[in-house]
Amino acid sequence: MRKPFVAGNWKMNTDSHTSINLAKAVAAGSSEVAGRVHIAVIPPFVYIPAVVKAVSTARIAVGAQDIYYEHNGAFTGEISSSMLKDIGCTYALCGHSERRHVIGETDELVNKKVTASIGGGLLPILCVGELLAERKANQTSQVVNRQIKNGLAGLSVEKISAVTIAYEPVWAIGTGLTATPQQAQDVQALIRKLLGEMYGTQLAEDVRILYGGSAKPSNAADLMCQQDVDGLLVGGASLNADDFVAIIQAAI
Ligand code: PGA
Repeated sequence: MRKPFVAGNWKMNTDSHTSINLAKAVAAGSSEVAGRVHIAVIPPFVYIPAVVKAVSTARIAVGAQDIYYEHNGAFTGEISSSMLKDIGCTYALCGHSERRHVIGETDELVNKKVTASIGGGLLPILCVGELLAERKANQTSQVVNRQIKNGLAGLSVEKISAVTIAYEPVWAIGTGLTATPQQAQDVQALIRKLLGEMYGTQLAEDVRILYGGSAKPSNAADLMCQQDVDGLLVGGASLNADDFVAIIQAAI
């Protein structure tokens, strides 16, 4: 059985006070269910140490929104997975749609980041998803297949067990438009089938596949009761502790 996983991606939001308050409120609100659902918060880099401290007595993991694929050296401005591991991170988002489509990250770069996350001791959350034009052109499965195959290229079966996949249709991110539970299930079943072809059915059954894109308390339960939706990657709604806690509670 895959344990549900709910992660809150704070993106470029909060400050030194609100990040701590939010983390503490999530820890307090989720304490009763925290053993039955994996929970992660993913603050901006600069607030990670304070957030790690704020949730240190709670069963809440902390993640990073991005990493660089080298471990150290002359890479001005970049932060490595081993540094993030060193300050208490557990997870790293790789290939979030804003990094692919705003910053211009390619599948090849995302693959290097997934590989380096595992190399540095972090658990990567590989984000995939189609643009609206691609969905309209019936290219969803093609795009997602390419992003998964290229994103995981070169990783052994043992390494794949460290990976969580997040299916986030780009047209649903921050737009208020959520994929229907059936749309999410259809794509996520395809992803699991592909993982089965690549690494065998047992591994595919164990990999967690999250949905992301305008997840909120009112749609969380319907999304997570789909067979292949093992949890949610939440953006906007994770900035409000009550909403995020309600989403965590909907996972069980
Ligand atoms: P959203 O963002 O919940 O605000 O749509 C999701 C994400 O980008 O991970």
